[in-house]
Amino acid sequence: ASPWLVVPAAGQGRRMGADRPKQYLTLDARPVMAHTLTRLHAAFPGARLCLCLDPDDAWFDPDWVLFADWRRVAGGAERADSVANALGAIAHEARDDDLVLVHDVARPCVAVEDLRRLMRVLADDAVGGLLAATVADTMKRDDGGGRVARTEPRAGLWHALTPQGFRYGLLNQALRQAMASGVTVTDEASAVEALGHAPRLVPGRRDNLKITHPEDLALAGMILAAQASAHSE
Ligand code: CTP
Ligand code: MG
Repeated sequence: ASPWLVVPAAGQGRRMGADRPKQYLTLDARPVMAHTLTRLHAAFPGARLCLCLDPDDAWFDPDWVLFADWRRVAGGAERADSVANALGAIAHEARDDDLVLVHDVARPCVAVEDLRRLMRVLADDAVGGLLAATVADTMKRDDGGGRVARTEPRAGLWHALTPQGFRYGLLNQALRQAMASGVTVTDEASAVEALGHAPRLVPGRRDNLKITHPEDLALAGMILAAQASAHSE
């Protein structure tokens, strides 16, 4: 079965500091968003898409959406609000056990093989899970004053990537509960964890970069070029 796809794309890209939200910056001759939607479509051509956009967005072009079944949803104040709006918009269509994959628009380098593998793993997982990569650097906790308070054991630490996929009913309940409790959750998994569940960590490629800071755009360009040459060998 095809999953639901939720793509939060209502952010302003403040850390990027460009003249437009980062999802509209050009990467290898196309907007970041067009790359992301193309990869998702390659993996899940039959999926139903919810695209969260700022209601005042002046840059979006529907030609980038290759999905036959898609809807535009108004973004909210935080990422979790945007995702919750998307879940609300499909409430009368989605069934509680439908799988929903949430993927940041700012991750255009996600590999199609990773998308398909995540879907295969989650198809028979009761909780759901996320693409993740082990941490390579030694991790320091600061003391709040610019000095090291302690070194965190690196073993067992992972970067949470996207997509993150959960059953509609569980995800909806988790996000509503997180919002009601006033806790800011920066990913879907942490909302589900707060309900006492343990999402599955699905090892993914380390080059699934989230474009965040100005130097990331050039890095993403190099990743796309490297992936293209690896595929043509
Ligand atoms: N996002 C969203 N709605 C929000 C905030 C973020 O849909 N209110 C989306 C972004 O568009 C992005 C993803 O959530 O795809 C991850 O957020 P982030 O990387 O923080 O993007 P921005 O919020 O745009 O960047 P910044 O935090 O630097 O402003
Ligand atoms: Mg943000």
